[in-house]
Amino acid sequence: MSRHHVEPTRRLLWRAALALSLCITLLPSARADGTHLRIGIVGTGRIGGALAELWAGAGHQLVISSRHPERLEALANRLGAQVRTGTPVQAAAFGEVVLVSVPYGALPQVGRDLAHLITGKVVLETGNPFPGRDGDMAHLARAKGAGLASAAYLPGARLVRAFTSIPHQRLRSEAHRAGERVAVALAGDDRDALATARRLVEDAGFDAVIVGPLADARKFDVGSEVFGRAMTAAELRRTLGLD
Ligand SMILES: NC(=O)c1ccc[n+]([C@@H]2O[C@H](COP(=O)([O-])OP(=O)(O)OC[C@H]3O[C@@H](n4cnc5c(N)ncnc54)[C@H](OP(=O)(O)O)[C@@H]3O)[C@@H](O)[C@H]2O)c1
Repeated sequence: MSRHHVEPTRRLLWRAALALSLCITLLPSARADGTHLRIGIVGTGRIGGALAELWAGAGHQLVISSRHPERLEALANRLGAQVRTGTPVQAAAFGEVVLVSVPYGALPQVGRDLAHLITGKVVLETGNPFPGRDGDMAHLARAKGAGLASAAYLPGARLVRAFTSIPHQRLRSEAHRAGERVAVALAGDDRDALATARRLVEDAGFDAVIVGPLADARKFDVGSEVFGRAMTAAELRRTLGLD
């Protein structure tokens, strides 16, 4: 081959390599190993909707769900091709990770409806019991601690309490903020599930603080000193005496 043919070919190859490396650099990171998670969202309200947006931005594949999935079409279209709509059953079936973000009073029924689909899966659950909204079961959950109460409603799931104490407005306004990030408290009994939850907290633009097993979730329940506050990881750890 003449030198005239070789040079353009080399230039083309070099440009292709550069473009590829740029693509890889610019791709949103989702997992340390570069792969993306399949996440089913049950309850795409203020918290579920905000997380859908943040996780779609990180490149994860989502089924966002509603009992009226057609109402989520506009959101799914806005978030991109990797986001589809479905029913709660379809979302739970789709996800290797399932986010459950429903009013606490709906948790017993959601747990029963989805039990066969979430057994063995990583489930992040955000609910807080409020008697005024959720009835008497909220008193029981508060007395028991929401971590243990949720585990009873979602048996078999590899449960992590997550995003329970950050207000939805702060979830949107503080994600990926410059400087020290806002922390999200996590509690769970399954080490791998906690590792997945940590990754998803970071992909959403926050720092994760693992507070302890599910029994310790009560340390950041409604009424605790850290509930509803946007704290850094250092502040959260100090306030909870984790250092
Ligand atoms: N808002 C906050 O700042 C905040 C912060 C931390 C934690 N939390 C807790 O997180 C949970 C979700 O809060 P949110 O503010 O996102 O609530 P939300 O805006 O009311 O959204 C809850 C979603 O749950 C779905 N849902 C309700 N009943 C259901 C059922 N029986 N089966 C299946 N899905 C059902 C609804 O979807 P469809 O009607 O479309 O089916 C709704 O979109 C609550 O327990 C809340 O206490 C809230």
